[in-house]
Order: sequence, then structure tokens, then C-alpha cells
Amino acid sequence: MADRLRVAVIGMGVMGGNHARVYSELPDAELVAVADCDESRLNDAPARAYGDYHRLLAEEHLDAVSIAVPTRSHLEVALACIERGVPLLVEKPLAASVAEGERIQAAAEARGVPLAAGHIERCNPAVVELKRRLDAGEIGRVLQMRAVRVGPFHQRHRDIGVVHDLATHDIDVMRHLLGCEVERARAETQRGVRTEFEDALLGLLRFENGVIGSLEVNWLTPVKQRTLAVVGENGMFVADYIRQELRFYDSGPDPDPSPPKDAANVTAIDVERQEPLRVELAAFLRTARGLEPPLVGAADAIAAMRVAEALVESAQLGDAVQVPVGEAGR
Ligand SMILES: NC(=O)c1ccc[n+]([C@@H]2O[C@H](COP(=O)([O-])OP(=O)(O)OC[C@H]3O[C@@H](n4cnc5c(N)ncnc54)[C@H](O)[C@@H]3O)[C@@H](O)[C@H]2O)c1
Repeated sequence: MADRLRVAVIGMGVMGGNHARVYSELPDAELVAVADCDESRLNDAPARAYGDYHRLLAEEHLDAVSIAVPTRSHLEVALACIERGVPLLVEKPLAASVAEGERIQAAAEARGVPLAAGHIERCNPAVVELKRRLDAGEIGRVLQMRAVRVGPFHQRHRDIGVVHDLATHDIDVMRHLLGCEVERARAETQRGVRTEFEDALLGLLRFENGVIGSLEVNWLTPVKQRTLAVVGENGMFVADYIRQELRFYDSGPDPDPSPPKDAANVTAIDVERQEPLRVELAAFLRTARGLEPPLVGAADAIAAMRVAEALVESAQLGDAVQVPVGEAGR
């Protein structure tokens, strides 16, 4: 394989534009082509531009491709790339349903094509540092996690609900941090406010190791907030995804609520800021070269979707739902 991999981006909206920019900056990639069915998205394209991605795949010799079309089109575009044998990174969620995700996974495995899913939050430096510290046992046994991912609505999110679109980030990060599967999910949702799907989620997860997690996720809140709190026996970490910050709250040797602790028990942890997409795409290029497995492969991406489907089902049933056992799990 050449020193610089020949890459393309299919879907030049908000996320695809970022992929194209980052590939243009990475020294071992050459962005050769981009595609979008809306030709207005191809004005000032940073590489050869195609209105039809089939033509791009037929005419370009590619080493890797990013797929950043709306989620309901992931299946179709991913299968076309796999058919051509091109290593692919599919934006998250991998597909609109577990069944579609499994079709992508099966096709990639059958053809031996490297496949990565764009669960970018694993590349957030605050999450990387948090994982390192949890693995080192800094807060002892983890007991509880709380994810908040709320903000205003953007029109581009219209083809799936917020549980699949946004909560899959938090489900994936929680699974990654714990190295453990969700066994039970329960949820309440708001539907039909901004989309015909879920617009807001309050969810509860129980992991196999007994850790409990909560998810407050919506695109209805005017202020954008993305945080994860992890409570353990000896203290709590709070990660802020947007600021790439991590704080540690010490429970002290003998936790005692009175007198109340002041700010002295809070430590800001040094986190070296990096663009998560740059980390993700650099790793994907190594996967495309066959040097390492994907940071997040199909099995992990599907596991997150399985939990998302259980949450949606729980809200519809008004009851807790057992999460089916998958390949990545038990
Ligand atoms: N990793 C993240 O944090 C993150 C953030 C935003 C979006 N995403 C994901 O990225 C994907 C795209 O989201 P977005 O916000 O960029 O959407 P978007 O609407 O801004 O862009 C999608 C683009 O795909 C084009 N498109 C649609 N169908 C196509 C087809 N068949 N062939 C070629 N182009 C086609 C559209 O014209 C549009 O320009 C979604 O799966 C979304 O979940 C991930």
C-alpha cells in the first residue's frame, strides 16, 4: 500500500465536511474524492466531486472511505463500498437498526473488508484519561454512571430518533469504560415534538456487573451539555466532552456528609486536548492498512444499538426490557 492512502468521503454534510477536512490534514492520507447527492454540497469541494457515489466507487481507486450520509442510508452505501472491497468507516450509529447493522457486519466479514464505526467519543481525550484512571482502580469499584447529553435541535437529525442518534454515544462509552454489557434497560421518552421519533430520553441501565447507569438525552434543551459522571467507592470523576475536561471528587478515607465538603476535594486533571475526529480517522487509516483492529468495530456498534432498541421498546411497553445477548457481549 502507498505511503498516503487514497481516501474518499460519501455524504458531504456537517460530519462529512469534517471528515474531508481532517483527511486533508493527515499526512498519510490523500483525499481524492467526495460525493453528495445534493450537488450544492459540492461547491468548493476539496477533491474530485461526484453527485452519485456509485460513480465515485466505479471510477476511483480507493484505499479507504468514510460514510457520512444520513443514518437510514448507511446500509445501502456501506454495502456498495464493501462490494468494491474498500475499507470503510461508517458514521455512528452503524445503521438504523440492529438488523441492518448485522447485514453490514456480515457483508464486511464475508468479503474480508475492514469496517469501523464512528463512535468518536471514545477518542475524546477526557474519556481516554477517564478510562486509564478507572482501569488503574483510582475510585475503586465503579457503582454508578450518569450521562447528560442535551442540546438544541438541528434539522439534519430528522431520520432517526434521539435514542439511536445520540444516546448510542453514551451507551458505547459506558460499555467501553466498564468492559461489560448492559443486561436490562428501562426508559421514558418524549416523541413527536421535533421529529416523528424519540426527541427526549430518560433511561436507566443495569450492567451485568451490577453497575447502574442513567441517560438524560435530548435535542430539546436550549443549552448544550455533554457530561459523564462516574461514581465509585472512593470518589467520582466528571468528564465534560465539550471542554475535554476531567475532574475528580475525592470521597475521602471516611466519607461523611457533615460538615459539607468544600471545593478542596475537587481536582482538575490535566487532559491534553486533541480533535477526537483526527484521532479516530488516524486510527481508521491504520485499520485500513491492516495494521490494527478498528477502535470500534461492528460488534461494539451493534451492541450499542441493541441497547438503544431495548430502551425504545421499554418506553413503548412501559416496562423494563432484557437486552438480548449479542456477539460482542456475554
Ligand atoms: N460522530 C458524531 O459525533 C456525529 C455527529 C453528527 C453526525 N453524525 C452522523 O453522521 C451522519 C451524517 O450526519 P450529518 O449530521 O452530517 O448529516 P447532514 O444532513 O449534514 O449530511 C448528510 C449528507 O449526506 C448527503 N446524502 C444523503 N443521501 C446521500 C446519498 N445516497 N449519496 C450521497 N450523499 C447523500 C446529504 O445530501 C447531506 O449532504 C449520520 O449518520 C449521523 O448520525 C455523527
